[in-house]
Amino acid sequence: MSAAPQKAKPGAEQIDVVVSAVVPLNDLVTRFEFQRTDGQNLPTFSGGAHTVVEMQDGERKRLNPYSLMSDPTDTSSYAISVRRDDQGRGGSLFLHQKVKVGDEMKISFPVNLFSLDLRARKHVFLAGGIGITPFMSMIEQLERMNGNWELHYAVRTESLGTYVDVLSYKYPNKVNVYYDDQNQSIALEDLLDGQPLGTNVYVCGPKGMIDWVHATASDLGWPNSQVHSEEFTAPQPGKPFTVKLCKSNKSIEVGEQESLLEALEREGVEAPFLCRGGACGQCETDVVSFDGDFIHRDHWLEDDQHESGKKIMPCVSRFVGKSLELDR
Ligand code: FES
Repeated sequence: MSAAPQKAKPGAEQIDVVVSAVVPLNDLVTRFEFQRTDGQNLPTFSGGAHTVVEMQDGERKRLNPYSLMSDPTDTSSYAISVRRDDQGRGGSLFLHQKVKVGDEMKISFPVNLFSLDLRARKHVFLAGGIGITPFMSMIEQLERMNGNWELHYAVRTESLGTYVDVLSYKYPNKVNVYYDDQNQSIALEDLLDGQPLGTNVYVCGPKGMIDWVHATASDLGWPNSQVHSEEFTAPQPGKPFTVKLCKSNKSIEVGEQESLLEALEREGVEAPFLCRGGACGQCETDVVSFDGDFIHRDHWLEDDQHESGKKIMPCVSRFVGKSLELDR
């Protein structure tokens, strides 16, 4: 009798790719393009999807999510645009400083946590800075479908306006750009107030912007189901801590520079994921016992779940204290 095929772990199924282009776009942002190493086509995806890019930096393995920004129907290559984060744990710096054309890498199959609601009569996109990337593929998708959309894009300065030139050139009547250094800002209330029934709003950018859009829309009576956002939190370094794992009967140390999820993976403990940014819920883990404080950084659990001490999202959250026991 043959063994049953192994079920792929969510988020972990990978594609071998080669870096086909590295294009610096401005002081902070570079575009990376990937093709399959075996010359085959990549899977199609839908606008707003992301891929998790594996980066082997010496001993350290990083897996970071990035929005796919190429045309979803172009299966010859994928593109991501990465903002350099000089204060981060090194994923974006690794891409900016070490990755070059011809390098072989692994990326995950596309996953979409920020898809278009195709029932909407109109789509209003609100982007802040590098938050423009998911909208690039959504716009391509909608253009093919003759969809009704408009973009409101806030950038710090003209020189940091990633893809402003391309977008303004291709869609002069649909793209509105706001420059912070010229004191321009989105007149959000007026914008939301003037939309036809059946409009959906999508926001991607800094946390403050996402919160602002949700709060304003809610104040104006917009149903939650018509306001969409995507926010990946990068795991932060912190004090090392020890975790006891009941199911795998192990005790593991989470290092200063690694996330709890990375520590589980290092020890070969089964740890599902999709986004690695506190947004999808896939890594949700039950806490068996604890004596200390959680540092919750996810957007998945409700406040009362955070307070209960019964759940943790290992991709972004940490722990400080005497003991922590998890159901893994
Ligand atoms: S992997 Fe998505 S919330 Fe942790």
